[in-house]
Amino acid sequence: MIMSNFKNDMPKHLAIIMDGNGRWAEKKGKNRIQGHSHGVKAVQEVVEEAVQLKIEHLTLYAFSTENWSRPQEEIGVLMKLLVSTLKSEFEKLLKNRIKLNVIGNLHQLPKIVQKELHYVVEKTQNNNEMTLTLALSYGGREELANALKQLAIKVKNNIISPEKIDQFIINKHLYTQNLPDVDLLIRTSGEKRISNFLLWQIAYAELYFTKVLWPDFTKKHLHKALTNYQKRERRFGKTSKQLLG
Ligand code: IPE
Ligand code: IPE
Ligand code: MG
Repeated sequence: MIMSNFKNDMPKHLAIIMDGNGRWAEKKGKNRIQGHSHGVKAVQEVVEEAVQLKIEHLTLYAFSTENWSRPQEEIGVLMKLLVSTLKSEFEKLLKNRIKLNVIGNLHQLPKIVQKELHYVVEKTQNNNEMTLTLALSYGGREELANALKQLAIKVKNNIISPEKIDQFIINKHLYTQNLPDVDLLIRTSGEKRISNFLLWQIAYAELYFTKVLWPDFTKKHLHKALTNYQKRERRFGKTSKQLLG
């Protein structure tokens, strides 16, 4: 897919806000739950394709801190779906040498979900083909608050001096401390907002919005987003001329 006239290589870190499961179901006269199970199919396809395309880091927004306000029944189904998917996809993660990583306020998740996540994270920790990060019970503001709290404790205990605090140190206290900045952020379903996802990490990400609802999202749509990304000029504050030089 990488062609010589493209300005950019593949994104090193691709993040996706997988949105539109509920509307997909509604359109088909199904219940929201069925929308979420079809969303899992899209996850499988995108993960496999990302490995094929040698994308190093893929981060999927699966459940936000705000999603805890949804009806209990829907939350319950999402948690069950998460556990069953982790179980059914486990062998594939091993086969494709994918390392599972999780970010978010994980303590809030049901114990069974935590247990399954720990198991898969541990068993895949030495895989190095791709890092698949699931954002679960994740909120960007919560992540930042958590990082600031850790830093305040370190200052209080004289482990770090306040003058030393800079963006690199803050970065090292985020859930994403081992991940590079996001290069491309895709959001499906037509909404054009960030919804508290990776606020710090998308500072210079390219944003791509598509009307496609998540359960309909295929590798064809992924290719379209990537081609669009590859054509963009990422200036990082510089001028076009500087980039050419
Ligand atoms: C995304 O789809 C999945 C989660 C947030 C868990 P939605 O469930 O938000 O679907 P819509 O936005 O209602 O269509
Ligand atoms: C964002 O989608 C969260 C996930 C995709 C997990 P939402 O559907 O919850 O976002 P809003 O509420 O429409 O912004
Ligand atoms: Mg939504």
